[in-house]
Amino acid sequence: MGGKFITFEGCDGSGKSTQVSLVKKTFKELKIPYLLTREPGGTRISEEIRNVILDESYKEMVWRTEALLYAASRAQLVGQIIEPALAEGINVICDRYVDSTLAYQGYGRGLGLEELININNFATNSLKPDLTILLDIDPEETLNRRSNRKADRLEKEQLDFHYKIREGFLELAKNEPQRIKIVAAHKSIEEVHKEILNLILPIVKAK
Ligand code: TYD
Repeated sequence: MGGKFITFEGCDGSGKSTQVSLVKKTFKELKIPYLLTREPGGTRISEEIRNVILDESYKEMVWRTEALLYAASRAQLVGQIIEPALAEGINVICDRYVDSTLAYQGYGRGLGLEELININNFATNSLKPDLTILLDIDPEETLNRRSNRKADRLEKEQLDFHYKIREGFLELAKNEPQRIKIVAAHKSIEEVHKEILNLILPIVKAK
C-alpha cells in the first residue's frame, strides 16, 4: 500500500512543466490515482512564500533566507498535502523538491550541502522521493526557450549559474543512481515523454 512519490527536476527551461503535464494526462487516461503539485508552492501558505521568494523587488534577500524559505514552503507542502496523499495510496507528482535546493542553493549559490540536507530533512520529516526524473539539457540550449516568456528573478541569473546547477544535478544523480534517473531533454517532446513513462509506469503499477 501507499502511493509513490515522484519528483521532476531540471534547469529552468528544460521542458519540465510540459513533461509534467503530459504525465498528468497519461495518469488520467490510465485512471492511475495521482496528485500533482509544485514547488515552491502547492498550498495556500506555500504559495505566499513562493511570492516572496520570486518577487524581483526583494533585491536584498540573502541566500540563507532564500534557502530557508524554500524549506519552509516545502515543510507545509509535505505536511499538509504530500504525506496524507501518499498514506491514502495516491501517487504524488511534484514539480521540483529537495534536489532543486541542493542544486540551486548548494551548487549554484555555494551554500553548504550538508547544512541544506539537514534543514531539508527537518522540513520534510525526511520524506524522500521513490523516483526522481532529472531532465538534463545544456543551459545554452534553453536560452531560446526561456526568452519566450517573462523571466523571474532566478531565471535572470547568468548562464554560468545554470551550468553550475546542471553539474550539481548530475552530481546528485551520480550519487543516487537508483533514485535519480537522467533523461536527455533535448530530444522531441514525444520521445522524452516516452522515456519518462518507461521509468514511471512500472513503479506506479507495481503498487
Ligand atoms: P518556477 O517558476 O517553478 O520555475 P520552473 O518552471 O523552471 O520550475 O520557479 C522556481 C525557481 O526557483 C526556479 O528558478 C528554480 C528555483 N528553485 C530554487 O532555487 N530552489 C528550490 O528549492 C526550488 C524548489 C526552486
